[in-house]
Amino acid sequence: RIFKRQMQCRFDIDRLNAPFLAIYDSLIPTEEEKAKQNQLFTLLETLITKEWPEAQLYVYGSCGNSFGVSKSDIDLCLAIDVADDNKSEILLRLADILQSDNLQNVQALTRARVPIVKLMDPVTGISCDICINNVLAVINTKLLRDYANIDARLRQLAFIVKHWAKSRGVNETYQGTLSSYAYVLMCIHFLQQRRPAVLPCLQEMQSTYSVTVENIECAFFDQVDKLRDFGSNNREPIAKLVWAFFNYWAYGHDYANSVISVRTGSILSKREKDWTRRIGNDRHLICIEDPFEISHDLGRVVDKYSIKVLREEFERAAEIMQYDANPCVKLFEPY
Ligand code: GTP
Ligand code: MG
Repeated sequence: RIFKRQMQCRFDIDRLNAPFLAIYDSLIPTEEEKAKQNQLFTLLETLITKEWPEAQLYVYGSCGNSFGVSKSDIDLCLAIDVADDNKSEILLRLADILQSDNLQNVQALTRARVPIVKLMDPVTGISCDICINNVLAVINTKLLRDYANIDARLRQLAFIVKHWAKSRGVNETYQGTLSSYAYVLMCIHFLQQRRPAVLPCLQEMQSTYSVTVENIECAFFDQVDKLRDFGSNNREPIAKLVWAFFNYWAYGHDYANSVISVRTGSILSKREKDWTRRIGNDRHLICIEDPFEISHDLGRVVDKYSIKVLREEFERAAEIMQYDANPCVKLFEPY
């Protein structure tokens, strides 16, 4: 199946740029919405530092990485010096504080895989999850945001891919398909691989930002203002990139042997990662290396059924981009 047919792009692809950009524009949150998110963040930060003056509150996930669509929930991380065993206590205390301040639907989920407090702000209508000490997520959020600030086409592509994945039901990790985080990494990697490249590899450059978290050194170049022209030799507009993205995942990617790696800006082999066989629940049927937790395959949730679903969806999308008269509608049709 691999390399079966990498297709030639249709001649009229450029007429799809305007409709794709219109979809992108309809998905991005408004300034008003971002102001409401900030307002809620400030309220929570005030409540938290009153109780724990040493603690810090951070945004992670789609509200912080700039890949969030309108009406997203806010993911927050409370960084606090506490032993893992005492996290529940903090979460319960936090839930009390929030409840007394009239926040609604406050729930401490202390037994969840990632223990959190959930809440809803009646003033802004925004829902929010707060976890404790998930600092790697805060840092990978910064990495994604820094990439987004290099070339506008990353955000355009990732919004369209995420919108496609949600519409087609392939953004459900509990059903064996991929997380939003994984899709954004696929987009970054794809733009690093384009020739000429649209994005650099920030972790291969001289680092200007470096922190060590859980014994992992997270270092990369983060002065992205200096990279605003990086992609200017590549003039491919959004429609061509959407076409090429799906063509790559439908017909170009070597699922049997390859690992995509944003960390190195290249393709690694499954053999060098020792990801050639199933270990425990990790099947490595589609391999996406986490940029910092490099033993971590974001494709680990994919099983032998969902890999078929995913690949069929990539092929469907590639066919639509190639032949359909109205791809901007067909691509996002509910499954
Ligand atoms: P939407 O809510 O779907 O718009 O996307 P999101 O950007 O919030 O993504 P998602 O819910 O997939 O993940 C939220 C955040 O959690 C990501 O931005 C990452 O920072 C972090 N995260 C998610 N999955 C993983 C993972 O497997 N490993 C690590 N290290 N971080 C993850
Ligand atoms: Mg989220």
